[in-house]
Amino acid sequence: MKKVVLITGASAGIGKETAAFLQKNGYIVYGAARRADRLKELEQLGVKTLAMDVTDDASMVKGIQDIIAAEGRLDILVNNAGFGSYGAVEDVTIEDARYQLEVNVFGAARLIQLALPYMRKQRFGKIVNISSIGGKFATPFGGWYHASKFAIEGLSDSLRNEVKSFGVDVIVIEPGGIKTEWGDIAMDSMRKVSGDTAYKNLVAKMDNSFKEIEDKIPGPELIANLIKKAIEAKKPKARYAAGYMAKPVLFLRRLLSDGLMDKVIMSRMK
Ligand SMILES: NC(=O)c1ccc[n+]([C@@H]2O[C@H](COP(=O)([O-])OP(=O)(O)OC[C@H]3O[C@@H](n4cnc5c(N)ncnc54)[C@H](OP(=O)(O)O)[C@@H]3O)[C@@H](O)[C@H]2O)c1
Repeated sequence: MKKVVLITGASAGIGKETAAFLQKNGYIVYGAARRADRLKELEQLGVKTLAMDVTDDASMVKGIQDIIAAEGRLDILVNNAGFGSYGAVEDVTIEDARYQLEVNVFGAARLIQLALPYMRKQRFGKIVNISSIGGKFATPFGGWYHASKFAIEGLSDSLRNEVKSFGVDVIVIEPGGIKTEWGDIAMDSMRKVSGDTAYKNLVAKMDNSFKEIEDKIPGPELIANLIKKAIEAKKPKARYAAGYMAKPVLFLRRLLSDGLMDKVIMSRMK
């Protein structure tokens, strides 16, 4: 029987690539996003699309209901929708910080709540939470983004052992740098929020450090492949990492003291 997958943030980047890749590989794929016009290409490939804003409870409830009504089940949830609300902690408004957590954390958590009753009943399910290597270490100006991804890491660890006995696996994906729209959105936010404040000199350095790596970053197909590998593993690992600098950075974070890690991070801001 074909497995039914819901992927949020399917209008661009990792979500779009994963939706197309899983569709090609025999899954029944539902791709969700706010920008319905950006889902047309996936529709042409046979992906079923849903207009969903992960900060709007009614749209999430309706999305899950529509999938259950059409397929009778939901096997895999990929919580991928997310963005970086960058700027100095002093400068980002608390309203924007709340919105960051609404999208990156509460949206994912609410979909998990909505999917779990069906997954438990089926005694089968895979919840894939797209975190980041930024869920394990933090750079300047990403404070709220990192807070959201550290939260996803902890939430996933709690959830994993709550739902294991129901046949549901929880898998964290930790991408390193991946070429998508994410970088421009985060850097635009950083420049807009802190480009002209007490932090402007460090903002310029951070901007440069992002520009320097642009050509070295792999495309989202790397993560699409990793997600497929993770959901098809008999005994999936708790975490999978791939992408620019993912493995070395995670290794260094485990190895180094906080002080040395700070030195490594700040040495890149020239
Ligand atoms: N690219 C990287 O280097 C990188 C590294 C580590 C982790 N990640 C994570 O990977 C995930 C995917 O990001 P990406 O790199 O593919 O970025 P992207 O190209 O900007 O795509 C982000 C997706 O999230 C959706 N989204 C944003 N806000 C939303 C909302 N309120 N409701 C529903 N959907 C929303 C967007 O769709 P709409 O705007 O149409 O709704 C879009 O489809 C994110 O969680 C990101 O934090 C990315």
